[in-house]
Amino acid sequence: MQVNSSQKYFNIITYGCQMNVHESEKLAGILYESGYLPCSEMEKADIIIFNTCCIRDNAEKKAESKIGMVKKLKKLKPSLIVAVCGCMVQQKGKADELISKFPFIDIVLGTSNSKMLKSAIEKINSGLKRFIDIELDSSKIENLPALRSDRTNAWLNIMYGCDNFCTYCIVPYVRGRERSRNKQEILCELYGLLEKGYKEITLLGQNVNSYKSEDGEGFDGLLSEISKINGKFRLRFMTSHPKDFNENIIDIMADSPNICNHIHLPLQSGSDKVLKDMNRKYNMEKYLSIIDYARKIIPDIGITTDIMVGFPTETEEDFEQTLNAVKTIKFSSAFTFVYSPRRFTAASKMEQIDEQTKRKRIIELVALQNKITAENNKKLIGKDMEVLTEDFSRYEGMVCGRTDCGRMVNFEGNQQDIGKFMSIGIEKVKTGSMFGKRRD
Ligand code: 5AD
Ligand code: SF4
Repeated sequence: MQVNSSQKYFNIITYGCQMNVHESEKLAGILYESGYLPCSEMEKADIIIFNTCCIRDNAEKKAESKIGMVKKLKKLKPSLIVAVCGCMVQQKGKADELISKFPFIDIVLGTSNSKMLKSAIEKINSGLKRFIDIELDSSKIENLPALRSDRTNAWLNIMYGCDNFCTYCIVPYVRGRERSRNKQEILCELYGLLEKGYKEITLLGQNVNSYKSEDGEGFDGLLSEISKINGKFRLRFMTSHPKDFNENIIDIMADSPNICNHIHLPLQSGSDKVLKDMNRKYNMEKYLSIIDYARKIIPDIGITTDIMVGFPTETEEDFEQTLNAVKTIKFSSAFTFVYSPRRFTAASKMEQIDEQTKRKRIIELVALQNKITAENNKKLIGKDMEVLTEDFSRYEGMVCGRTDCGRMVNFEGNQQDIGKFMSIGIEKVKTGSMFGKRRD
């Protein structure tokens, strides 16, 4: 595309999970096809899109304070189009609330309405005051172009929505009912991505293990088809749910060199009572049996997790059980969260725990997991590992990439190394980061 003085630019600010990152790539794809180019500064943009998240209160607060900053820009450039999309605006009543707080918002699109972006812009440019579409219907998300932000890794949706209604979680309310994509369409997209040169594909779904294809097969069926694809690439998937995870998945992973030896399996809590109150539908015995089997079949498997503290019914003893579970399981790493009450959810109506207790618990949990992560990483010193180089590192003169089991390694390198598989000897570990030396 030739750049001229009338060239228009867009800037997308994304909050939240990988699902949102990929959705932003689709919004970018629509704008690119309409003649816009991406830019990284809000000041330069003709369209600013906020792709929002509402999983926790701080995600909403962050987005709202950034949206507030656009008021000044809009005054300087009245033709600027401001769109707010995604999970936050999908909450009942939230779109109206946002518009009354930020009347300069031109476009509001819900989690399944990205397809409307092009016509929304056309309507605003022809004088419409505001365009809002928040009708929830995930069948409308299919077949959107994506302008992918990474040249090595690509995201691939295999399902949309969630039916689990964990009592703390807002996702089922803002992303609607679970719907699996057609298996052949997924495989086609995957082949297309490999043909384009992507080296790592991550299958995305709120609960990939409850995937059901049109022929009635589950996630293991899809994984088994993918394991038959020849050529060198890496496949990851997230997020898994312990209630639907089965041993067959591990067996397929063990037999396939392309499926990474890594599972992200949210634990949430180490207390059976809290898990029940969270409506997680598994207990510690089930969770530990998955871990035991996975480690028996794939000894060096990377296991990462999500853990939450401060759920309304979590007592000090329950929290101790979470700490004990973390000590026993020794996750490679963990995303840790403070419970945040979310509107509509069952847990938000329970009696809440005070903020100070929550803070004390998260500090203790993070310190424990950091110690375990460092110990796990130290065990890798002296080993040679295959790393897929992803990007420049935050350390000068270095690039970084992940091992098959998901650990990030930094090593000396340059632009040409990005996108390549390399053999790296692990040399040292410094507060969570690993450093290595190339062997080839
Ligand atoms: N408060 C805090 N953390 C939450 N998560 C989901 N809902 C909430 C909430 N209300 C966490 C869970 C989930 C991860 C994506 O976000 O741990 O696995
Ligand atoms: Fe939320 Fe539970 Fe669904 Fe995950 S499985 S998106 S935590 S409701």
